[in-house]
Formats: sequence, structure tokens, C-alpha cells
Amino acid sequence: MAGIYIHIPFCAKKCFYCDFFMSLSLEHKKDYLSALKKELKLRKNYLQNQTIETVYLGGGTPSLLNAGEINDLFSEIYKLFNVSENPEITLEANPDDLSEKYLKNLKNTPVNRLSIGIQSFFEDDLKIMNRRHSARQSIEAVKTAQNTGFDNISGDLIYGLPNMTSEKWQKNLDIFFNLNIPHLSAYHLTYEPNTVFFKKLKNGKHKEITEEESLNQFKILINESQKNKMIHYETSNFARENFFSKHNFGYWQQKHYLGAGASAHSYDGNSRQFNIKNLKQYIEKVRKNEIFFEKEILSDTDKYNDYIITTLRTVNGCNTDYIRENIDEKYAEFVLQKSGKHIKSGNLIFKNNILKISEKGKFTENLIIEDLFYA
Ligand SMILES: C[S@@+](CC[C@H](N)C(=O)[O-])C[C@H]1O[C@@H](n2cnc3c(N)ncnc32)[C@H](O)[C@@H]1O
Ligand code: SF4
Repeated sequence: MAGIYIHIPFCAKKCFYCDFFMSLSLEHKKDYLSALKKELKLRKNYLQNQTIETVYLGGGTPSLLNAGEINDLFSEIYKLFNVSENPEITLEANPDDLSEKYLKNLKNTPVNRLSIGIQSFFEDDLKIMNRRHSARQSIEAVKTAQNTGFDNISGDLIYGLPNMTSEKWQKNLDIFFNLNIPHLSAYHLTYEPNTVFFKKLKNGKHKEITEEESLNQFKILINESQKNKMIHYETSNFARENFFSKHNFGYWQQKHYLGAGASAHSYDGNSRQFNIKNLKQYIEKVRKNEIFFEKEILSDTDKYNDYIITTLRTVNGCNTDYIRENIDEKYAEFVLQKSGKHIKSGNLIFKNNILKISEKGKFTENLIIEDLFYA
């Protein structure tokens, strides 16, 4: 059982916090879609005929594709791969693309899950982020999607924004939960190099919120999601029962995936592949049958560290038997020995060979994970 990720690297406007690989010009869209189909064909054996359970169109802004372009991509996917009967097929969408007409057309494609980039319900936040939609448009988009028959919806919010107060964050969550969206991805802002936010931080125009405020906003997020019957199933992801993102959960359970498109990553259990991060070169290289990716063979230490960082961030936790059976006995011994002090301090829980971060440990999760890395 495996997944396919497809990167759509086009955006109509560049958000000031974002460092995802994207282009503001749609000039090469047609050639890019042809290259994507060719890449899928070239790599149809990458997943060794495993059943495809999830397909994820991420970006960039996949909602810049029309229904015809989406169907065209999927007819190729269905031709080349063994897709399961009820796959989860997600499209990342910007709120202002989700008009009633667009959503009705989207209903006639295989897409059955929407991940909508709301980010904030406050106009001043949207403005400093350089988003291209208003709060009202986000609310309309969610309601229209629900009325069009999309019930599997996720929304993205960002907290820890400059000048964001706990009260404001609380209000954002109140509005979110009132919309009855079954899945929330809430990310703490990170200042990525090469972004306008990063520059503003460096020249003093933006001030980072304090550590205390940051922790408080995370606390509010955990409390409010609990009150709203959401399961905190991964550091930044919350969902009602049966609404976890199967695709993303696959990444955290070592499932194999093929990532197609410029900058996309792939994983087959033994290696990771990184496609070139350049639109024109990607198109050219695929067209000419030249190598368009770098490949990294994973050592046992890489596999162990990957396993720790992905599993400890989830509700399922890290299975020491899995490490023993699939990586090496020495890493299982290492993690058991290293985790002792965190179990004692109540930050980790160890039961039935599963290590999990406790409620208390969630606030220092990164430090615990780092401490369990094998150097
Ligand atoms: C691929 S991006 C967005 C998809 C879509 N284009 C959009 O903007 O809604 C996925 C999500 O990552 C989050 N994100 C991107 N950069 C971030 C950053 N520097 N800090 C925190 N969250 C970030 C945003 O919430 C964004 O919606
Ligand atoms: S957040 Fe989304 S719309 Fe904004 S630049 Fe990044 S990928 Fe594009």
C-alpha cells in the first residue's frame, strides 16, 4: 500500500512566509503537466505494483488547475497504477479559487478531499502574510465546499505570527471549529530563509513572539481541539475520528510514496529521491530522458533517525520491535537506554514496546526527539 504525491508549483501570489518551491508564472503550465505525465510513465515501476491508496496534489497551488487538467492527470494515473477502490485523493486549494462553479466541476474529478489554506480569519494577518483572499472568502469557500458535497475537508491555520496574541489565536480557533471542519493543520510560523518574513525579522521590522506566548498558543490549540473532539494525531495535525489524513499518515508510518514533479521527494524503504528544484530544467530533462533527480541510499542510522522523528510526532508512537526487526537490534537497545531519563521525567511513556510522547512531553517534543537521535 503506497501513495503518490504530485507537486503543482504555481501560485498567483507569493506569501511572505512561504519557501515552498513555486513559480508566479503560468507560462509553462501546459509543458509541466505533460512532463508530469511522462515522469509518472517513466517511474511506473517505482512502487513495484503496490496498491495506491492515496494521491495528494500539493503545491504551490493545485487549485490553479482546472477540472479538465485534473482529470487528464488522473486518467494517466489510473492507466499506469493499481489504484485501490476507495482512494483518498486530496487537492490543496486556496480559498479564492473555490467558487461554486469550480467546486461543482471538481466534483466530477476523482478529488474527494480538500485541504484549504485559510491561515487566519483576521484581515490584518492575511495582509501581512500577503495572502490573496479575505477571511470572508475562506468562510464562503468552506461553506460552498460543504454544500457541494465535500465532507472530507481540512483547513490550514498558522499561529505564532508576529503580533499574534493568545486572544486572537483563540478567536481564530473559535471561528474554525464553528465551521465544522473535521481536520485541522495548525502550524507554528517558522521564519524560512529567502522569505520576506525572514528579511523583516533580520531588519527589525518583525518581532518574534516570546517563547512563553508561543507555548501558550500551543496550549490553547491542544485544549480547544480536545474540547471540539479532535484527536491530536501528529504535532501539527488534529482530526475527528476517521478523518486523519491517510496520505500524510502514510509518510509517518514508513509507507512508500512516489513524488512526481519539480522538487518532489520519493521514498521506497531503502532510498530517498529528490527531484530537481527548477521548473524549466525539470521539464527539459524529463523531455530528453535525462536524470532529473538525486538519490540518497539510506544507511541504517538514517532509517533509525527517520523512524524516530516521524513516529514520535504521532499518536501511534515508536515501536521498539519494529526497530529491532526492520533496522537493527543495536538501535532498539540504544533508544531504550536513551529514553530512560525521559520516561522518568514523565515526558515519554513506554508501554507494550511502544514509546510515546506524553501530554507533558509535547511542549519539549523537539528536544526529546533530538536527544534520541543516533549520531
Ligand atoms: C504547500 S503550503 C499551501 C498550500 C496552498 N498553496 C495555500 O497557500 O493554501 C501548505 C501549508 O504550509 C503552511 N506553511 C507554509 N510555510 C509556512 C511557514 N513558514 N510557517 C508555518 N506554516 C507554513 C501554510 O499553512 C500552508 O497552507
Ligand atoms: S503558501 Fe501557498 S499560495 Fe502562498 S506562496 Fe506558499 S504555496 Fe503559494
